Amino acid sequence: MTTILWNDRLVKEEEIHLSVEDRGYQFGDGIYEVIKIYSSLMFTVTEHIDRFYESADKIKLVIPYTKDVLHKMLYDLIEDNQIVDGHVYFQITRGSSPRAHAFPTTATEPVFIAYTVAGERPFEHFEQGVKAKFVEDIRWLRCDIKSLNLLGNVLAKETAQQAGCFEAVQHRGDIVTEGSSSNLYGIKDGVLYTHPTTNLILNGITRRVIMSLCVEIGLPVKEESFTTDQAVAMDEFFMSSTSAEVTPIIQIDDYKIGKGTPGEWTRKLQAAFEARIQQLVTF
Ligand SMILES: Cc1ncc(COP(=O)(O)O)c(C=O)c1O
Repeated sequence: MTTILWNDRLVKEEEIHLSVEDRGYQFGDGIYEVIKIYSSLMFTVTEHIDRFYESADKIKLVIPYTKDVLHKMLYDLIEDNQIVDGHVYFQITRGSSPRAHAFPTTATEPVFIAYTVAGERPFEHFEQGVKAKFVEDIRWLRCDIKSLNLLGNVLAKETAQQAGCFEAVQHRGDIVTEGSSSNLYGIKDGVLYTHPTTNLILNGITRRVIMSLCVEIGLPVKEESFTTDQAVAMDEFFMSSTSAEVTPIIQIDDYKIGKGTPGEWTRKLQAAFEARIQQLVTF
């Protein structure tokens, strides 16, 4: 029987009571994280937990547990559900209060939820790559916060998928920012380009791993933005996220990237990423 963390308790789903006036439900007033589980271990768990607390700070929400306690709670959840490969999702909202936009004047109890999902890694995408679609980035100006407000991202992904594509390549004006749920990278003449970590993108944990893998494999990096025209002229293009890892993008709209197949540097990064996972599971 699947169990869920509801605040600091492991319970069955039917035991959970959520208020209709929960601010996460009404305003998206909360934050979340997703951590990948390989061989029952969480990948880059410290980085994800740190980012969870950073997002909380940015919206002035106080998480009522220490990082160590949260870490242990997540491992207990994974163990209880006997997850080998999959992910753990967790979120916290500002809690319940009579509906009003401003923060409640009397203290609310934040509501924390975490649950696990078992699942295979998307090997077919890793192998063959995916198609993407340019979509105007209409989101707010605090994309650095991993907030529950995902409507802009949802609409971007839906637009891409309606067009038969896996991911959106979002752009503000002609500047490429990030995917609907991923960071984006282009490689041109042996240099990797990716949008700098400003307020316009999420500072992805997988992105941070990739930055260190680039050093490892000798691929120079320029954290500089590039245009949509430059994007389609890249030799290689790929996306990254906790679940997509390093997924090649072989076509954007009608433009084939490079030869229209995953490129050599992308393959090297995938191999280096795999080695990092192996380091975790064989440690
Ligand atoms: C908008 C956005 N950008 C980037 C990412 C990649 O972040 P991470 O590598 O931490 O999963 C995500 C992940 O969900 C995302 O939603």
